[in-house]
Amino acid sequence: MKDLTGIIAQQTDIATGIRMLTEEFPGQVVFSTSFGQEDQVLADIIWRNHLPVRVFTLDTGRLFQETYDLMDLTRARYKQPFDVYFPQTEAVQNLLREKGTNSFYDSVENRKECCHIRKVEPLGRALQGAKVWITGLRAEQSENRHDMPVLEWDGHRGLYKYNPLIRWSFEEMIAYLKANNVPYNKLHDKGFISIGCAPCTRAIEPGEHPRAGRWWWELSKKECGLHS
Ligand code: ADX
Ligand code: SF4
Repeated sequence: MKDLTGIIAQQTDIATGIRMLTEEFPGQVVFSTSFGQEDQVLADIIWRNHLPVRVFTLDTGRLFQETYDLMDLTRARYKQPFDVYFPQTEAVQNLLREKGTNSFYDSVENRKECCHIRKVEPLGRALQGAKVWITGLRAEQSENRHDMPVLEWDGHRGLYKYNPLIRWSFEEMIAYLKANNVPYNKLHDKGFISIGCAPCTRAIEPGEHPRAGRWWWELSKKECGLHS
């Protein structure tokens, strides 16, 4: 294949970058959205430019009502399809039978188990057949995202991971959303920045780290395993 890594890392036009990837890998470029602010920027770029990218979200079954509202608002606005992946029924049933509804508060191990069942395993299914995975990761979000490149080969999953917003600042992202009147999660108006599952996300106070509201009771690295 062409040296896409070099070319795409240098260019700043995201639509052009995605288009190049879809030409190189027809039908094999996918975008995962959690309907966060970063993801809404990318969804807008993909659908505004009619880029042939399969869009999907992982519905853990524990999302905020506001996030479901935004899914429908986004669907109405762009009139474009996206796939919703659910966890495996039996895995959730077994977890609830053995450990109850909110086992994630009891230990990091339990929390990772829930994230694995509700997010990581469905992600694996959603990425089947994909050669490029587009994400809304930004370096500012956390320490282990600081050194992530714009385009990288993920040997573990056997695909390219494209993080076009990786060097974007929070302010640039907000400016894009405003300029293009992109729909957003109403929780952002109530002190939420990074939004995941409802029982595992809280609003943050002024001056707190943007991800302080995710798994706020844990002291260890706050990642769910999607990107580790
Ligand atoms: S997480 O690992 O802490 O949960 P984060 O919320 O920062 O991830 O989102 C980073 C990127 O991961 C998003 O831009 C999106 O591409 C992907 N992602 C996270 N959660 C989901 C989800 N529920 N469905 C689809 N993609 C997701
Ligand atoms: Fe489970 Fe919380 Fe992880 Fe959601 S964020 S999958 S509820 S542990």
